[in-house]
Amino acid sequence: MSAGRPGDAVSGFSGASPAWLKGLGGLRNTVRQELVARQLDEQIAARFPVGQRLRILDVGMGQGTQALRLARAGHTVTGLESDADMLRVAREALSGEPAGIRERVRLIEGNGQDTGVHFLPGSFDVVLCHGVLMYVQEPDAMVAGLARMLAPGGLLSLLVRNADALAMRPGTAGDWDAALAAFDSDRYTNRLGLSVRADRLDALTATLAGIAAPLRAWYGVRVFTDNVGNDVELPSAAELERVLAAEDRAGRTDPYRSVAALLHLCGVRG
Ligand SMILES: C[S@@+](CC[C@H](N)C(=O)[O-])C[C@H]1O[C@@H](n2cnc3c(N)ncnc32)[C@H](O)[C@@H]1O
Repeated sequence: MSAGRPGDAVSGFSGASPAWLKGLGGLRNTVRQELVARQLDEQIAARFPVGQRLRILDVGMGQGTQALRLARAGHTVTGLESDADMLRVAREALSGEPAGIRERVRLIEGNGQDTGVHFLPGSFDVVLCHGVLMYVQEPDAMVAGLARMLAPGGLLSLLVRNADALAMRPGTAGDWDAALAAFDSDRYTNRLGLSVRADRLDALTATLAGIAAPLRAWYGVRVFTDNVGNDVELPSAAELERVLAAEDRAGRTDPYRSVAALLHLCGVRG
């Protein structure tokens, strides 16, 4: 159940689902999903015994790319999503999975800012919140709520727009007015046409430290392919592997990762 009245917009994402869904499966979104998957699997492998069935909460899971992937890997996944259209898409995707996977996934309509309404504190080993904080006006309160959902030693995985590098997208596209304006801003207009918020690494690092889930690792996501069009399709498998290898390397290497479009922050609950 959503905390508000049915139909209330709880997120700055409202109305953007058709445009977001159109970009899925193209090069740009594939790089994002693949990089996040590799980085997340690396962090999970570093923190939990091999084969442990983890309790995972995916807040703002959207179409459910990571949620379904993790369920296929044997974990128990709860998806919390505020947008009815996105929830429908995720449910459709889930219905195509074998019964053993379907029964490990629970999808709930609700606001990620109200996790305390839906779940008991400490009830998850991993909490994901990917591509959501930009639509939230008060991210600190939401992040604190997500951290409370974690058991001790649990992993919080945040994917946010990088406010320290907002001039990169317009600058590398030759839009100099927008590039100059971006230096002093933490707002930007995204590919979906929405004016949204970006986050700074230093500020989120301080937030995570303050809520007892200090930052343990961070990565850049989409260093080289941020300006690829949403409609650009996947190249051959061999070429895609090279793109991913270059992005993966940049995403974990200074100074490249600092100017990535997205930052993947991993905090661990003390
Ligand atoms: C850009 S999509 C990302 C989907 C998915 N997490 C991914 O990374 O592919 C953002 C999703 O977050 C959801 N969302 C935004 N604000 C939310 C909130 N306050 N509570 C729950 N879901 C939210 C949107 O409805 C949308 O499905």
